[in-house]
Amino acid sequence: MKLISGSSNLPLATKIAQYLDIDMVDLEITKFSNGEKRVWIKDHIAGENICFIQSFDRPVDENIIETLLITDALERSGARHVNFIIPWMGYSLQDKVFRDGEPIAARVIANVISNSYVKRVSLLDLHNSSIPGFFSIPTHHILALKPFAKYVENNFDLSQAVIVSPDFGGLKRARTFAETLSLELENIDKHRDLHTGKVTPKGLSGEVEGKVCLIYDDVINTGGTVVETARFLKEKGAKEVHFLVTHGLFAGEGLEKMNDDSINSIVITNSVHHDNLPEKIKIVDVAPVLGESIRAWI
Ligand code: R5P
Repeated sequence: MKLISGSSNLPLATKIAQYLDIDMVDLEITKFSNGEKRVWIKDHIAGENICFIQSFDRPVDENIIETLLITDALERSGARHVNFIIPWMGYSLQDKVFRDGEPIAARVIANVISNSYVKRVSLLDLHNSSIPGFFSIPTHHILALKPFAKYVENNFDLSQAVIVSPDFGGLKRARTFAETLSLELENIDKHRDLHTGKVTPKGLSGEVEGKVCLIYDDVINTGGTVVETARFLKEKGAKEVHFLVTHGLFAGEGLEKMNDDSINSIVITNSVHHDNLPEKIKIVDVAPVLGESIRAWI
């Protein structure tokens, strides 16, 4: 097996290749003067099984087009099977029709990938566990729960800690995390205005007075949930508020919002690549967990 990486997250792909001790395919990605992407596989890969890594983060649409160009080039170059890992699946938050007249964008993307030269897809910590069913090819939903649990055990005093789900949508995921660590679980009743996107926490299931709150979530997008949740929990008497969130997108002013004094720390994974993150934001490496899922195919 060889590994090929799109341009979205070369550092993660390189770590996975090192973890598995496999070679990376020599791929050149440039642009024509009219802005179109130009993809060129320089290695001989005929008959090889290929593991392809690409996150659909910004520029999202460009990375999706690049993905399709790479899969076509893989097919034309004679690749045997292509196993595609999408550490962050852009469009996955649009998993239903929120307002009449909208598409189900996650299904659109799943259809496009299913119809490309990809044998199977692996996805990491999806917002909605039904999304794998949108694909018409085999899928594998990988969880970052173990590396996050290890981080918590190594960095927090568990006698004071409580796991918090920031909304009802994330309750099942947070419950599994709380059970893994044998910690109490609290849940916030979060409201989001569909037009403005403004997040308002409306209520809390129990007490967090004097507690170290560990909020477990799938994605930081605009950062609204993080800031409003942290302020809300501090108002309720929480001693510290820390976030454990798989995908750090930090759209718009998202990164600046993380400076809010109510937030003690934010732990994300390297599913999306960032240079020069502030000290407050820590990274948990998901290369081993993704590498192990790939090893299962070899
Ligand atoms: C919502 O249900 C998700 O689990 C996240 O909490 C949400 O997508 C985060 O978005 P934002 O950072 O824009 O508040």
